[in-house]
Formats: sequence, structure tokens, C-alpha cells
Amino acid sequence: MKEVGLFYGTYTGVTGNVAKKIVQHLGEENVDLFNISTDGDKMKDYQKLIIGTSTWSIGELQEDWDAFMPKLQKMDFTGKTVALFGTGDQVGYPDTFLDGMGMLYETFQYRGAKFIGFWDTKGYDFTSPLPLLDHDHFVGLAIDEDNQPELTDERIEKWCQQIKPQLGL
Ligand SMILES: Cc1cc2nc3c(=O)[nH]c(=O)nc-3n(C[C@H](O)[C@H](O)[C@H](O)COP(=O)(O)O)c2cc1C
Repeated sequence: MKEVGLFYGTYTGVTGNVAKKIVQHLGEENVDLFNISTDGDKMKDYQKLIIGTSTWSIGELQEDWDAFMPKLQKMDFTGKTVALFGTGDQVGYPDTFLDGMGMLYETFQYRGAKFIGFWDTKGYDFTSPLPLLDHDHFVGLAIDEDNQPELTDERIEKWCQQIKPQLGL
């Protein structure tokens, strides 16, 4: 078992691709990669977690995360470190941009997790309050492959540099 477990939910593959890039930046020797649709139960084995989701159906959690919710709501994350990332479409869905990431933040926070990897809102244009930590920060990395694909790689790289020491890597 590696130091960090990365769990993602994806429908068309965008979040899965971001997850793979995060693993590349943090080192394959450091991170185990899991799809929440099949391997969610393994979350309890890790003290350090990276959690990724997209948002669908105007403000709904990606469906595999949604299906896993009843189990997630019984897990204890006290003393565990969590870094979140989300993918969404700020032009098509500004009012619910990255709501899924915000919902996971609330759930993990309620269950005792400590968070790293907050991300500046500069360079995004949206109105959704749910993915926000405060006025200037998202609760995790924000990726918009629909409208800003040219920024994705540098965002991932910068975020990984930010969280790497916090993960002890
Ligand atoms: C019908 C539909 C509804 C969507 N609703 C939202 C939304 O409410 N908020 C958001 O940020 N993105 C929304 N999106 C955009 C997706 O979340 C985005 O394309 C994401 O990168 C898909 O990732 P995935 O392939 O990993 O599931 C929506 C897309 C579609 C087609």
C-alpha cells in the first residue's frame, strides 16, 4: 500500500484523466489510484486521501459518488488528511459550478477530515457558493476542461507542488 489513496468519480472521463495526471506529478510510487465506482471501501485504509469528482445534472454529485454516499456517511475521517479536486463547467453552469466538490467537502468535514490544497478563485468566473472555502478560495483544485483546457496542466502541476510537502512526499 502506498502513502496516499486517490479516489475519483468520473462519467465521461475528464476527472479520471485529471486524477492520472495528479498521480504522475506526485509520483506513481506514492499514490494508489482508485475509481470510486468499484473501490470506495479501500478509503478506510489510507491516512492521506486525494478525492476528485465532477458535477452533473445541474448541481448533483457525480453518480458513482452519489451511490457511495450512504457508505461515506458512515466512515470516520478523524485525523485523516484530505485534498479535494473538482471538474466542472463554469460557463454552462455558473450557479452550480463544482457543487459536487463542495458537497464532498461538507461530508468529509462533518466526518472529521482535515483539509489541504485550497485553491485561489482568481481566473474563474462563477456564482456558486458551494465549492468555496472563503471569498478568495475554493475548497480544492478547480478544473474546467470545458472552457479552460489550456490551463489544466499548469493548474494541476502548481497544485501538486502545493500539496506535496503537506502530504509528506
Ligand atoms: C447535463 C450536464 C450537466 C452538468 N452540470 C454541471 C454542473 O451543475 N456544474 C458543473 O460545474 N459542471 C456541470 N457539468 C459539466 C461537467 O461536470 C464537466 O464536463 C466535467 O468535467 C465532466 O467530468 P467527468 O467526465 O469526469 O464526469 C454538466 C455537464 C452536463 C453535460
